[in-house]
Amino acid sequence: MDYKARIAKNISEITGAEEEQILKAIEIPPQLDLGDYAFPCFILAKVMKKNPAMIAGDLCGNADTLTGMEDKVSCKNVGPYLNFYVKREAIAEEVLGEIIEKGEDYGASDEGAGQNVIVEFSSPNIAKPFHVGHAFTTVLGNSISRIYSKLGYNVIRMNHLGDYGTQFGKLITAYRLWGDEEALKESPINELTRIYVKFHEEAKDNPELEDEARENFKKLEDGCPDEVALWQRFRDVSLEEFNKLYKRMGVEFDNYNGESFYSDKIPAVVDMLEEKGLLTESDGAKVVMLDDCKMPPCIILKSDGTTIYASRDLAAVLYRHETYNFSKNIYVVGIPQALHFKQVFAVLKKAGFDFADDCVHVGFGLVKFKNNVKFSTREGNVILLEDLLNEAVSKTRAIIEENAKSRGQDMDESEIDSIAETVGLGAVFYTYLKAGRERDILFDWDEILDFEGDTAPYLIYTYARTRSILRKAADMGLTPDGDIKLLVSDDEYAVIRALSDYKDAVKRAASAYEPFIVSRQIATIARSYNRFYNNSSILNCDNDDLKRARLVLCEAVCMTLKNGLELLGINVVERM
Ligand code: ARG
Repeated sequence: MDYKARIAKNISEITGAEEEQILKAIEIPPQLDLGDYAFPCFILAKVMKKNPAMIAGDLCGNADTLTGMEDKVSCKNVGPYLNFYVKREAIAEEVLGEIIEKGEDYGASDEGAGQNVIVEFSSPNIAKPFHVGHAFTTVLGNSISRIYSKLGYNVIRMNHLGDYGTQFGKLITAYRLWGDEEALKESPINELTRIYVKFHEEAKDNPELEDEARENFKKLEDGCPDEVALWQRFRDVSLEEFNKLYKRMGVEFDNYNGESFYSDKIPAVVDMLEEKGLLTESDGAKVVMLDDCKMPPCIILKSDGTTIYASRDLAAVLYRHETYNFSKNIYVVGIPQALHFKQVFAVLKKAGFDFADDCVHVGFGLVKFKNNVKFSTREGNVILLEDLLNEAVSKTRAIIEENAKSRGQDMDESEIDSIAETVGLGAVFYTYLKAGRERDILFDWDEILDFEGDTAPYLIYTYARTRSILRKAADMGLTPDGDIKLLVSDDEYAVIRALSDYKDAVKRAASAYEPFIVSRQIATIARSYNRFYNNSSILNCDNDDLKRARLVLCEAVCMTLKNGLELLGINVVERM
């Protein structure tokens, strides 16, 4: 429907002001009596050299303001505001018609057709535990990938594994001394962490260990077969363990080119920077100076000639551009690495690669826990994602079981298990995605699992309950095909408005890299739907036509909630 866009276009054509700017200024008034959309005419005052109230009056009297939508929208002016009123029966037909017709594709578009977008996310370090911070990038990146796919972009999901660096020399040394073959098979990351910690303890009294580790890393860099084989093994077993988590989370990657993949591509980068005259010696290291960008220098080669994180990222971005000719290259990595990415992008720009402007660091905040979140942590003070998920699922299970008992629902153990898994994971994902990504997250079980709160359980429950109404209706022989034009009450209209704003929310979420715009929109849909549900009867409605129209509304709500949750990586259940 997008009346907002059409209104902006019309005003822009009449006044000559920029469409984009008008679109941005159009508001959704807080009360329905002020219209569905309002345009404050202040921004036109400069271009038109008139006061905003006069402009509003003129525009309102101008038939062209509504050209092409006169039968669906009317306009009034109040002071400097133009208020637009959408005719409820028209919008109901348009929005619900579109949702029912498109189903899963409601909110989809082809704006990205033919464009490659790289979303790099997760990127854990191999041989290290997968903690709740890595979960943030995983959940956020997964959602951003899904949103971009929905908009027709060809998304390449990359997992830039931390699989290179001097720590692998230490692991090789440690494994040869203390490694336990069986334990490595049984629980790879635990075993690798154990020997890594032991290495550091032993090296305090035994500094030669460090030399040996350095030597082993050198051998690894030089491609010595034994060292490479061990490293490969650490990588394989770690990835196997990560993949179990990814599978459980419903996350997939197209590509696991980690840091190691780029190590042999670095000399070419160094040569290129050298040729362009960008490399400077500094304390034996080679750096690109960035003082003109008010940043510390970007180190390319360390004084011992070994490569580092930034050079691997430079090699990676050049490779990505060459391989995928991306229109966007998105890095979903925590805020603490913001400077690193600014430096990498600045070096690219200096070297004359304009695609630096298409590279985006999408940062996110920290993960904190309220006192009621306790774990028997296996690894000192990091909280493992697996423990968090298990705890969420078991707590959800208890609630579902209790609810089923009190409602007298008969559910067997395996159904309860599967609902608890879906809802529990959903609860955790939603917590990561319900607010702006740069905000820190506070995990609090009471809040996350509140079936009435701003939570995934609330949304999934709304979906499941509505599905059960639709099933009941079908059993009663009722078909969802009433006259949609009857859906004009305030409550019904609020739901339809929320549904109609969903499409725009998906687009805005993509351009701001903010899945919370989608989560907030579906939460608005669910809240307004539940208000409607509490105030009106659906199956007991005495007007048969209206009853069947309300079933259409139920169906549209289900579809949109399911679509939206899917964009967040969250599944639904048919009953709970
Ligand atoms: N492995 C790194 C970490 O765990 C994150 C990698 C981020 N991506 C990148 N291209 N530098 O901190």
